[in-house]
Amino acid sequence: MLILGIESSCDETAFAVVDSGRRVLANTIASQIDIHARYGGVVPEIASRAHLECCASLFLQCLAEAEVRIEDIAAIAVTRGPGLAGCLLVATEFAKGLSLRHGLPLVAVHHIAAHAWSPQLARESDAWGLDASASGSFEPYVALVASGGHSSLIEVRGPLDYDILGETMDDAVGEAYDKVAKLLGLGYPGGPLLDKLAQSGNPSAFGLPRPLMKGDGLDFSFSGLKSAVARIVEDRIRHNQPTDEPFVADMSASFQAACVEVLLAKAARALKQTGLRRLALTGGVACNRGLRAAAASRLPGIRIAIPAPEFCTDNAAMIAGLGYWVHQQEGAVGMRLNAAPGLDLAAAPWNS
Ligand code: KG4
Ligand code: ZN
Repeated sequence: MLILGIESSCDETAFAVVDSGRRVLANTIASQIDIHARYGGVVPEIASRAHLECCASLFLQCLAEAEVRIEDIAAIAVTRGPGLAGCLLVATEFAKGLSLRHGLPLVAVHHIAAHAWSPQLARESDAWGLDASASGSFEPYVALVASGGHSSLIEVRGPLDYDILGETMDDAVGEAYDKVAKLLGLGYPGGPLLDKLAQSGNPSAFGLPRPLMKGDGLDFSFSGLKSAVARIVEDRIRHNQPTDEPFVADMSASFQAACVEVLLAKAARALKQTGLRRLALTGGVACNRGLRAAAASRLPGIRIAIPAPEFCTDNAAMIAGLGYWVHQQEGAVGMRLNAAPGLDLAAAPWNS
């Protein structure tokens, strides 16, 4: 059963065709990174216009890549929220147009749930061996969704059953990466650049804070960490000390070490508190090499799933993948589907 997924919640326009919630036939993405780089972050009005401009051609490109026709598609899944209002509107209205024109059922998908569900996706063979039916024998897991907009620990009990265990109280970890990269004079988005530099730096060079580590809480806070970096950079400039490449590499490594330590410590806590033995690392920050490398060594005995990078950053395969289950279990929403920038994860099936 082929599902067409559509995603435009932030700065990636994306279409995908996924078979039966798992096998990805095409995952087509138009990134706006170059457009927003000169502003150092996403400009919502520019983002929604850019989505609009490439939507139709990207849709055709996706079908061609999947080697299918629109007649082969069984249903359309679209991100309803959360996200930027003007951006979400582009995909939801495009999806409604396609649904009306081709008589296809339309289902609404929650963006963060789709990240949490993304380890179920695979290009060819099974990534994680989700049980044949997502009910009954499905084994729950903890998902860390770490992206530019969110840092959440979520208990995944089924495709439509999520419980938020912990969230960031201020900046998301990806947002902190982007801001720290800006402070260090790197480009946008900062995550991949900082990750690369961190490989050649000393992670103990600067004693940065590990926020909210005391007690047994599962919430995150990253803005204090970012401010600590800002203070060190300002101090160096004031005292005419170099902010050259070795400094930037050491600061990148120290910042990355703090982020990785906090993310994995809280994930370990969530696993302990829920008694679960499986962990998924998802969202754009799950591309991070430091995080990927440390996860296995710091969580012995835990089965860890990390989707391929193309399914970590924003994509429509995850929307089509979860959309399959929404369609199976809840059916279509139809023309009353509207964009919902503040859509609640717990409000599954996210239809109204
Ligand atoms: O999931 P995503 O594509 O979009 C959101 O839903 O936010 O995540 C984008 C975020 C950006 O903040 C980017 O800097 C971060 O993921 N990111 C990384 C890496 N690759 C992307 N952060 C750290 N290390 C990386 N390798
Ligand atoms: Zn995302």
